[in-house]
Amino acid sequence: FDLPKAKNEPVLSYAPGSAEKKELKAALKELRSKAIDLPMHIGGKTVTTGDKVPVSPPHDHQHILGHFHKGTSAHVHQAIDAALAAKADWENMPWQDRAAIFLRAADLLAGPYRAKMNAATMLGQSKNAYQAEIDCVAELCDFFRFNAEYMADIYAQQPESAPGIWNRVEYRALEGFIFAITPFNFTSIAGNLPAAPALMGNTVVWKPAETQIYSAAVIMEIFEAAGLPAGVINLIYVDGPMAGDIIFNHKDFAGLHFTGSTKVFQTLWQTIGKNISKYRSYPRIVGETGGKDFVVAHPSARAQEVGTALIRGAFEYQGQKCSAASRAYIPESMWPELKKMLTKEMASVKMGDPEDFTNFVNAVIDERAFDKISGFIAQAKKDDGVEVLVGGNYDKSKGYFIEPTILVAKDPKYRTMCEEIFGPVLTIHVYPDDQYEQTLELVDETSPYALTGAIFSQDRAATLLANEKLRHAAGNYYINDKPTGAVVGQQPFGGARASGTNDKAGSVLNLYRWVSPRLIKENF
Ligand code: SER
Repeated sequence: FDLPKAKNEPVLSYAPGSAEKKELKAALKELRSKAIDLPMHIGGKTVTTGDKVPVSPPHDHQHILGHFHKGTSAHVHQAIDAALAAKADWENMPWQDRAAIFLRAADLLAGPYRAKMNAATMLGQSKNAYQAEIDCVAELCDFFRFNAEYMADIYAQQPESAPGIWNRVEYRALEGFIFAITPFNFTSIAGNLPAAPALMGNTVVWKPAETQIYSAAVIMEIFEAAGLPAGVINLIYVDGPMAGDIIFNHKDFAGLHFTGSTKVFQTLWQTIGKNISKYRSYPRIVGETGGKDFVVAHPSARAQEVGTALIRGAFEYQGQKCSAASRAYIPESMWPELKKMLTKEMASVKMGDPEDFTNFVNAVIDERAFDKISGFIAQAKKDDGVEVLVGGNYDKSKGYFIEPTILVAKDPKYRTMCEEIFGPVLTIHVYPDDQYEQTLELVDETSPYALTGAIFSQDRAATLLANEKLRHAAGNYYINDKPTGAVVGQQPFGGARASGTNDKAGSVLNLYRWVSPRLIKENF
């Protein structure tokens, strides 16, 4: 039995006049035209509550897309019970059948649900059409398809046997349920965090970020349309600390699959640690957290390439990718040309509603993000030694809009060179050409995070020096490319230090965390 060979889902262009653009426009119009109800999904049933919370597009916060039904502690218990009840049948199902459900989900997503999924991500998370397409369609399909192939690879790993002895490994699911806590910034990550453990035979309680519920509901619809049995993935909209209190005190808690902030992840880890003796097994803790991703240019690098990487790396999806370039180190000799290029190119970047396909930059996710990011900019305007080269304005009257902003800081340890902002702010430090090696050392020293980073150089020795000096400063390290845009099956994604457990989403390494192998030796 062979699964179809996984291939990356082609990214459609949404060019003017294309069929896909027409379909997407129609889906946007349809979703905008009515406020929908967003119930929870527990044990295969939709669950409504009296507590309805409105959902709005970040770029048009007065418009209501729908209401999600907020759950209580009773719903957390129900979701756990549903996951535990579904477990035996699900894990005993032939793995090919589990794979088939996710392969079918990928085909549904790439086909009949493509426009709806894109439209929901564009409206709910303020993503432009291209950013939505590479996320909630291409990357999510890729997660489903490649993970199915990796699962087959894992099951094929078997020990040697001998005449009269049969050794084998059974890749059991974990004993208990998995808790998936998912972020707003990638619909694909939100879908993959429950799907990857489920594929390996686990059952899951899934709590998405409140700001992503609108597209999470479409993912759930696809899972159900693909034939996912009731209770395998239970989608709840609940208060995080309240849910944590129940889940992390439950003896059947078996694992956490998390993407979000470093601070929250550390708190959850501490809670799990405190409760460790309550659990049947040591829980698996897999998390992707913060980042402060760097770009370093060597004097031999090509200024235009560096400039393009900075614009795309820092400002696509408003800098709200965990991988976004947020600090750059540029040699003095390159700076005049790069400065000119950045100023010129950024003048033509359009900001606004993602429903107008010519806007490259849209709104940031919510008011809290807006206030935090604009606070950094406001402070930078006051501080000595920092210049606003591009942007610097913001306005939340209609949507949470922050102009893509480039700061130039004299001090390489200025706060926007070191602290995570998670928004469209790039800070550049210009270094003397003869200080390349010291600059690399400084980059490492100012990297409590280690998610992504990029080095630009046309000089092999300089590249090798960076590879060595920055060995632990990034889990995804790019040479002559932007630090964003990892493709499943090609660049497994994740980082260490305060950026996560580096279990590489979209790889065999991640899936290994969701199995508990049993070795069986049998003598004949
Ligand atoms: N995987 C995304 C990227 O590489 C970030 O989560 O940009």
